[in-house]
Amino acid sequence: MWSLQKVLLFTVVTSNMIIISVHMVEFCQKDEPDCQGQDTSPSSHMINSRWNTSILNLKRNLDHFRVSCEKLKGAFPIDQVRGNFIRSVTNCIFSEAFPTPLKGPLRLAAVSKDALEGLLDLDVAVIVSDEFRQYVSGGKLFPGSEPLAHRYGGHQFGYWAGQLGDGRAHLLGHYTNRKGETWELQLKGSGKTPYSRSGDGRAVVRSSVREFLCSEAMYFLGIPTSRAASLVVSDEPVWRDQFYNGNVKTERGAVVLRLAKSWFRIGSLEILSQNGELDLLRKLLNFVIAEHFPSIHSNKSDKYLAFYTSVVNDTACLMAEWMSVGFAHGVCNTDNFSLLSVTIDYGPFGFMEAYDPDFVPNTSDDEGRYSIGAQAHAGLFNMEKLLDALRPLLSAAQQEVAEMVLKTFLDIYQTRMQQLFKAKLGLLGENTEDQRLVEHLLQLMEDTRADFTMTFRQLSEASAHQLRRRNFTQAWALQDLASHGRFSDWLNVYLLRLGRETHDEDEDRQARMKSVNPRYVLRNWMAESAIRKAERNDFSEVALLHDILRQPFLTQASAEQAGYADKPPWWAHQLKVSCSS
Ligand SMILES: *[C@@H]1O[C@H](CO)[C@@H](O)[C@H](O)[C@H]1NC(C)=O
Ligand SMILES: *[C@@H]1O[C@H](CO)[C@@H](O)[C@H](O)[C@H]1NC(C)=O
Ligand SMILES: *[C@@H]1O[C@H](CO)[C@@H](O)[C@H](O)[C@H]1NC(C)=O
Ligand SMILES: *[C@@H]1O[C@H](CO)[C@@H](O)[C@H](O)[C@H]1NC(C)=O
Ligand SMILES: *[C@@H]1O[C@H](CO)[C@@H](O)[C@H](O)[C@H]1NC(C)=O
Ligand SMILES: *[C@@H]1O[C@H](CO)[C@@H](O)[C@H](O)[C@H]1NC(C)=O
Repeated sequence: MWSLQKVLLFTVVTSNMIIISVHMVEFCQKDEPDCQGQDTSPSSHMINSRWNTSILNLKRNLDHFRVSCEKLKGAFPIDQVRGNFIRSVTNCIFSEAFPTPLKGPLRLAAVSKDALEGLLDLDVAVIVSDEFRQYVSGGKLFPGSEPLAHRYGGHQFGYWAGQLGDGRAHLLGHYTNRKGETWELQLKGSGKTPYSRSGDGRAVVRSSVREFLCSEAMYFLGIPTSRAASLVVSDEPVWRDQFYNGNVKTERGAVVLRLAKSWFRIGSLEILSQNGELDLLRKLLNFVIAEHFPSIHSNKSDKYLAFYTSVVNDTACLMAEWMSVGFAHGVCNTDNFSLLSVTIDYGPFGFMEAYDPDFVPNTSDDEGRYSIGAQAHAGLFNMEKLLDALRPLLSAAQQEVAEMVLKTFLDIYQTRMQQLFKAKLGLLGENTEDQRLVEHLLQLMEDTRADFTMTFRQLSEASAHQLRRRNFTQAWALQDLASHGRFSDWLNVYLLRLGRETHDEDEDRQARMKSVNPRYVLRNWMAESAIRKAERNDFSEVALLHDILRQPFLTQASAEQAGYADKPPWWAHQLKVSCSS
């Protein structure tokens, strides 16, 4: 229907030392009538007719792009104190805070054409301008921007941590796009704010590359998430003790422009509740409900209860989706959990390789508090803290109902998990034995340390004939799994179960499974390899990964060549994910 054409942008070094890196972007050919067919965002199918989504309406010139802070500034009191010095802030939701420009030369290390065009209506051609790099790194403010830093608190690692807030992020404003969606633009790594505590307000190259790549990858896996539009790398030195072992190294500062429908977190409500700022708590909740929960009637007496019920459900479903792709968030603190139940704050996350419920992406998390197997319980804990934050606004009877709702969290999670894992195995219909079939497989995977992603993918790619003949010649993960003494029993039961669906063709089963079991996920070793190059200003592998992870369910020659579906290399096992960022 629509064709893609690879275009290579060349390195340009201008007199003021602004550098555009070499990277690939994909263009629609302008003479293609169906050009807008490439818009893959799920919401594009439900476009309100009052919006003209024609690709021709993309802005080719940044002068036509404007953001606004009016909604947020109109709705809430703003901190009366000005300046970026660290302080304790009360009776407001935001402080005015201006980004601190990164020191050049600035390199545009990556851009997401999907985010720029699909969310911000910007023709990707705007990225060649010097202005673009300034706008997305904090050097210049988009017209209409009155940047803000958000005040929030949170429970970190089980304990109330008091005031936290945007310590190195600036909310630039919101933008309503041609589909009628409103997105908040936020810079991360853009300098100190009143909430920086002991931090320097910067983010380093490695953590920024990881956030950029993973948030876009999660979107294309179909998992609710914040998005990333651009990544700018500077030469500004930043000092980090990467493994908290006293070994301080100089790294470089980087800024990501990230997007979310809203950046409010559980901690946004908690700080108001903890401080007894109940009018503001009510105001913030009313705002969030009116803006983001259209199905909740804003003048119903039980709207806070309805809100809570909705967040409990959506967060449980989100965490089940994480599990279905082996994603561990790494820092499930209440300040890192979105009120809209989208994945935010990509820190020491990881995709599990060998299946292991004890998988911990943060190597300093010795207790395994946020191991992948404990993740749902961390979610439950966070929902309990959300309820505590809402309590002052709920009647005694409503609190009782909310406590019942809280108790449904793990059931909703389990039910959704079961649906997702049944789909991963290609099972149709209902069968009482299905849960056992899934659990049995996971047990075999745990015992054999079979690769999580590739076990499911290779089961999808194998024909029933190959499975019956135990032909795993090109399936390294299944070979590992098949070393288990009880694997054959499991496979027989599985094949019988598949055979029971008489109307199901084997090709349909394979296609169905391949559409939910990715062949490529952002494994740590892949990110690490791209980061090592990015540290030397070679962003080619960032671009390659970004491009491949846009179609994680599709076998791609470039990915195969790079070994992204192969057994992880030997050095992958020694990798530690750094915690400082
Ligand atoms: C949508 O916008 C395009 C480009 O500006 C224009 O050519 C087209 O007529 C518009 N369509 C409608 C239905 O307004
Ligand atoms: C909410 O209140 C307004 C006016 O107070 C009223 O017009 C509207 O019908 C109410 N909506 C619901 C769902 O009760
Ligand atoms: C629960 O959340 C999921 C995912 O967000 C959604 O599809 C489903 O409709 C929700 N269920 C209820 C009862 O709200
Ligand atoms: C996420 O959690 C980590 C650890 O608690 C914290 O350092 C970080 O500030 C949080 N991220 C944001 C953006 O709040
Ligand atoms: C990793 O876990 C340790 C131990 O719980 C914690 O102190 C550290 O802050 C965590 N790292 C991040 C980035 O949250
Ligand atoms: C095993 O499967 C592969 C494809 O994965 C095929 O090329 C090969 O011929 C099969 N071998 C046997 C013995 O069936």
